[in-house]
Amino acid sequence: MSVDTFEAIFTRRSCGRLLDPAPSGDDVRRILEAAAAAPDHGCMKPFRFVVLAGSAKDEFGHVLADAYTARCAERGVPVDPDALDKERTKLGRAPLVVVVGAVRQEARKVPWEEQENAAAAAAENALLAATALGYGSMWRTGDPAYDRRVKAALGLSADDAIVGFLYLGSAPRTQAQRVPDLAGLVTEWTP
Ligand SMILES: Cc1cc2nc3c(=O)[nH]c(=O)nc-3n(C[C@H](O)[C@H](O)[C@H](O)COP(=O)(O)O)c2cc1C
Repeated sequence: MSVDTFEAIFTRRSCGRLLDPAPSGDDVRRILEAAAAAPDHGCMKPFRFVVLAGSAKDEFGHVLADAYTARCAERGVPVDPDALDKERTKLGRAPLVVVVGAVRQEARKVPWEEQENAAAAAAENALLAATALGYGSMWRTGDPAYDRRVKAALGLSADDAIVGFLYLGSAPRTQAQRVPDLAGLVTEWTP
């Protein structure tokens, strides 16, 4: 990492609108190597990464819009044109999006929750690596993350999980370090 680990942790901040330049090819590779280095019970490699860049992002917007329309039909609610447009264009909020999935595997010792946790750890590693390389980021989910049609378009089955859509790009400004207050979060257990 090009910056101190703690600096990356404390300066990482969700940025809703990310700009060009997107992470370079080498940087995307480094970010995904960091992701795949996450703790992984049983070394099952449950995480999968799907990179959406350029026109593929626009095409995937149609997948999101169609899935929204199908969800409305299933729920028996009318399609909201603004919401439909948001689904179609939301990937435009960053020049690059990496979808982090978790592929469900049968393993007696490693419950599915832990496989998902490993993929979540991979997602956080990716965000920290992106921060260390000077990029802005944002982890998003929402209804599409739980939609079997969106999963299928990404090569995942309905039983697999989309852990997050990681939006990556350049942030308009660098962030000051923010160290959380631990008040109320920590106790020392005593018998
Ligand atoms: C599993 C997960 C899902 C998230 N999904 C969304 C989302 O759908 N929309 C959103 O605005 N932020 C989402 N976030 C980002 C959080 O809102 C954000 O991390 C939080 O507000 C704290 O801000 P920070 O990242 O700048 O520390 C998600 C974060 C996680 C860990």
